[in-house]
Amino acid sequence: MLTFILAAAIAASGPVLRPDNIPEIVSLLTLEEKAAILVGCGSTAFDGIGRNDIGVKGSAGATHAIPRLGIPSIVLADGPAGLRIDPTRPGTDKTFYCTGFPIGTMLAATWNPGLVTEVGRAMGNEVLEYGVDVLLGPGVNIHRNPLCGRNFEYYSEDPVLAGETAAAMVDGIESNGVGACIKHFAVNNQELNRLHNDARLSARALREIYLKVFEIAVRKAQPWTLMTSYNYINGTHASEAPWLLTDILRGDWGFEGTVMTDWGGGYDTAAQIHAGNELIQSGSDARYNALIDAVREGRLPMEDVDRSVTRALELIVKCPAYMGYEHSDAPDLEAHAAVCRKAADEGVVLLKNEGALPFGPSGITALLGVTSYAFIAGGTGSGDVHRPYVVDLQKGLADEGFTLESGLDGFYGAYMVDERWRCANVDGKNSWVIDRERPIEVVPVELIRAAARTADRAVVTFGRVFGEGKDRDLYHSYMLQDRELQLLRETSKAFRAQGKKVTVILNIGGVVEMESWKGLADAILVCWQPGEEGGHTVASVLSGAVNPSGRLPMTVSKRYEDEPSAPNFPLIFADKPFNYSFYRRLEGNKKDYTVKDIDYTDYEEDIWVGYRYFCTKARDRVSFPFGFGLSYTSFRWSNMRVARQDGAWKVCVDVLNTGGRAGKDVVELYVSAPGRDMDKPARELKAFAKTPELQPGESCTVEMTVAESDLASWSEESGSWVVEKGRYRLIAARNAEDRGLRRKIRI
Ligand code: BGC
Repeated sequence: MLTFILAAAIAASGPVLRPDNIPEIVSLLTLEEKAAILVGCGSTAFDGIGRNDIGVKGSAGATHAIPRLGIPSIVLADGPAGLRIDPTRPGTDKTFYCTGFPIGTMLAATWNPGLVTEVGRAMGNEVLEYGVDVLLGPGVNIHRNPLCGRNFEYYSEDPVLAGETAAAMVDGIESNGVGACIKHFAVNNQELNRLHNDARLSARALREIYLKVFEIAVRKAQPWTLMTSYNYINGTHASEAPWLLTDILRGDWGFEGTVMTDWGGGYDTAAQIHAGNELIQSGSDARYNALIDAVREGRLPMEDVDRSVTRALELIVKCPAYMGYEHSDAPDLEAHAAVCRKAADEGVVLLKNEGALPFGPSGITALLGVTSYAFIAGGTGSGDVHRPYVVDLQKGLADEGFTLESGLDGFYGAYMVDERWRCANVDGKNSWVIDRERPIEVVPVELIRAAARTADRAVVTFGRVFGEGKDRDLYHSYMLQDRELQLLRETSKAFRAQGKKVTVILNIGGVVEMESWKGLADAILVCWQPGEEGGHTVASVLSGAVNPSGRLPMTVSKRYEDEPSAPNFPLIFADKPFNYSFYRRLEGNKKDYTVKDIDYTDYEEDIWVGYRYFCTKARDRVSFPFGFGLSYTSFRWSNMRVARQDGAWKVCVDVLNTGGRAGKDVVELYVSAPGRDMDKPARELKAFAKTPELQPGESCTVEMTVAESDLASWSEESGSWVVEKGRYRLIAARNAEDRGLRRKIRI
């Protein structure tokens, strides 16, 4: 049980902050004190992402305390895959590791909001027990383009899947009495020139795609806080836009929480406060002075300041710091590792399986690819976590009782000693923003040929890591590299010649091109960046102890050029120097829009993002569709029924496990609109449901709801949501391309 004491009240005599006296406290604050509450404590070392030692070492930021009125400082720390604080502190041998959970994309790939809430509960408990008040996550921006360097932190190309996942995560985190922070509001879809890029898009694309995910999360979960993004939207800085922060966020959606800037984001402090951006993070003397000057010079009304201070205090009175919670610095990391494992088990997506999987621990497994021996738990930048360990696939397989082919095992064992040393050396010199150095792929041809004779199957892992501040390189990150292809070709040739199967594991933060090489693999398993327990998860899926039930949260197109946003996304080349967020620093608020995709990005694809585009306009350009994922068992769906209930449609489908293994299935409910008065995608996801684990022969009924308002599109003419009249089709499908079961409804 949580034991809270009102520490703040003890610190002061006279009126002190209480949830019911905020107006009185605001009236007692001086202008300087108000500015101190709104402008954060700053970063002790601003290394591109927040880094603060005030409060909790290695957290991202904090607010100033005003002890005379019993107002405590609250601590803010990243991020979406778990709490990011320093794992060690001077003067103590104690460690402060946090659980490295699966990345956001993998959580979305579970299609299981209940499970995501469980992850959030565990994450939030670490926030509470390490003395932090607000977790700077989840990140919910839309996967507009597969090369965005932060996609791994985000959920999906679809706003319904992303919004539902975000709401579930917020509920879980906040069940601990700590805050969550949905970020980055809004249209933050590229890292190149991220502080200054102007995202230019239609009102329809904005409302239906890029804001929709935030709208769902706000309406469903009402998060304590929200973070504005670095970029501009149609010429206004996101953190300085009243139409966004006041009219839409609070006016249209009813947001009741507190808004903060991204770290160092925006230029004009007075404009930010006026727009409805309460906390200026991470804060600096310049920001503090700018706020005070703006009030003194009459450029910022005191009512705006008071409104912001009120909202900041409304946040503070909910926080553990205000409650005087005595944190233990000892969360149950073992229990949380089990949650991490459980979530990862459900997020693995089986893309291809031609009789290769599962293979159980008997026989000999040839384990190839440097990533098998150096698993990637998560991405870099503020979405990174200082986790206590990472289980790689070699260890995962050994723990599951697999026998590894000894020639390759010995070879990689020796090779990786040097490579690990080299990587640690390179990383030691790099700042946070650079891609983490990875072991160089190697192709031990003779050993592969020998292994093909003695082993029973081959498993090859390819890995990708990237993160904040830099987008992915098309040729080095999105495509398989020459050595990787060579490794796969040699392995495939040698093993198939012996009638043996080859499985490819993709340990990635975002998709890679697969069309050109998928024929070389008998099975393809995407394990994303699965957190600290990854090797165990993959071993359980290979052995069949876990039946994969994840589904793609994005489309895998055949070629990068097929992506609808490809003509309007910056291409990065590893050997060019302009890879960073700070590439073009525009002077102050001056908008010098000259370079396409850097100074500005035109969202010419409009609402045709991901499967909306592919299903409607380019069906033949897809390797694996949105929502796709295989299982070791089979399911039969029947009896789709639709009932009108309280202004919504209740849709039920019976799911029967017709195969030989226990497993879970996902029913995706798409809607196809008449599309006569408006240009509409062939289908759009409106709801989904994951079954419980069904034993062979067992069945269940899943239930999903679609409200009439879910059918609306944003009309540019009327500037409002409009539900087109006519006949709609409800489609219960296995993925965006599946014909599925269908029922008609009429508006
Ligand atoms: C990132 C945010 C993060 C903040 C604090 C910024 O660079 O964009 O996502 O929460 O730093 O670390």
